[in-house]
Formats: sequence, C-alpha cells, structure tokens
Amino acid sequence: MSFPNVILLTHPVIQTKLTELRDATTGVRAFREVLEEIASLMVYEVTRDLPVQPKTVRTPLETMAGVMLARSVTLVPILRAGLGMAGGVLRLLPEARLGHLGLYRDEITLEPVPYYQKLPPDIARSEVILIDPMLATGGSAVAAAEFLKKAGVTNVRFVCLVAAPEGIRTFHEKHPEITIYCAAIDRQLNEKGYILPGLGDAGDRIFGT
Ligand code: PRP
Ligand code: URA
Repeated sequence: MSFPNVILLTHPVIQTKLTELRDATTGVRAFREVLEEIASLMVYEVTRDLPVQPKTVRTPLETMAGVMLARSVTLVPILRAGLGMAGGVLRLLPEARLGHLGLYRDEITLEPVPYYQKLPPDIARSEVILIDPMLATGGSAVAAAEFLKKAGVTNVRFVCLVAAPEGIRTFHEKHPEITIYCAAIDRQLNEKGYILPGLGDAGDRIFGT
C-alpha cells in the first residue's frame, strides 16, 4: 500500500522494535523504552531535509565553513500518547522547543475533543514536528494540524508510528502538503476505530491506564 506524501520507514531496526510494541505481552516499562527508541530512530529520517545555513567553525587546526540548522525546531506531541515519543525525539534534538496539544477521542463519536493547548510564542518561525503514535480515523491529527496552522505555522511534519489507510486519506484531504512519516500502514480500522492489527490503545499502554 503506498500513498503520496507518506514516507514509510522500513528500517529493519525500527520494524523489529515495532513488532515488540505490537506484542500484547510487552509490559509498560518495555513499551515506554522501545517507543522512545523508535522515536529517536524515526526522527533521524524525519529531519533529513531540514534547511541548514553556513556557520564558520574554528577547529583546533584551522577555520572552515560548517553548517547549522537554519531554523529552530518545535516538537508538538498530541497528548497523551504523543508524550511517549517526545523523549526519543528530544534526545536527537535537545534544543527543540516543546508545544502541547491536548486532544482525546470521544469513545462514541470518535471525534477529537480539545482540552489543552500551549505553544511557544514564535512557533510560526519554527520547523514543527507533530507527533502521535497512532493515526486512526485521522480526526485528532487533522484537528492538531488545523490548530498549528491557525497559530501561523507553515512547516509541519507529522510523525506517527502506525497509520490506518482511512486516517491517511482523511488527513491528506485536509492537509495534503504535510508529509506523514510512519513505521507501518496497517490494514483497517475496526468498528470502534481501533487500528487492525495495530498495537491497542497507545495511551493506555504507555501510561498503564
Ligand atoms: C489516540 C492516539 C491519537 C488518537 C488517534 O489518542 O494517541 O491521538 O487516538 O485516533 P484518531 O486518528 O481516530 O483521532 P486518545 O484519543 O486515545 O487519547 P490519549 O492519547 O489521551 O489516550
Ligand atoms: N488510538 C489508539 O491508541 N489506538 C488505536 O488503534 C486507535 C486510536
């Protein structure tokens, strides 16, 4: 299954770790650790085309032309489950600012319900990495991207772990220019909006709820 503007990260180490997360016997501690590890591996690919600017550096021997990231990076996890990936991303990008978007999915309607938003004031000038392990119906990711656009953000990458085809289509109907990076595109949603085969409820598995 392939979709335009979706980058599927097929790296064998990512795929091995994803299999561990899918395993129903993986406990809270291992789930958290492995999710962070995958996030670190994914962000390496996600940041591959970040713009750089020249920076002169003096080595112990001479001066040379180096580079530095041209723009600040802001990481925006969708609460709660996005928090489970944030530490892994920050390990690679320790200077990144952090915004938070609190959204939960109503269990009956599956519509996203916003409950908290806090973004850095100059986020519009930043490269934004929006993270959430699960892209199911797409409702939460669509709402989060709308919120970022209203805040003036123009450069967003959306990183998820497992995506459903339904969620990818819905997300790209509204935000076709935002690249989705994911480690898997699963088969379908069930009648309750869970991804099949998926990994269950990501938030519950991270937080032990
Ligand atoms: C999960 C997940 C996404 C959302 C995906 O969060 O982390 O945010 O569901 O579903 P969607 O694509 O159909 O919107 P949930 O609403 O369970 O909240 P939580 O992270 O607080 O557990
Ligand atoms: N949210 C999850 O955490 N898991 C799913 O399968 C769907 C939505």
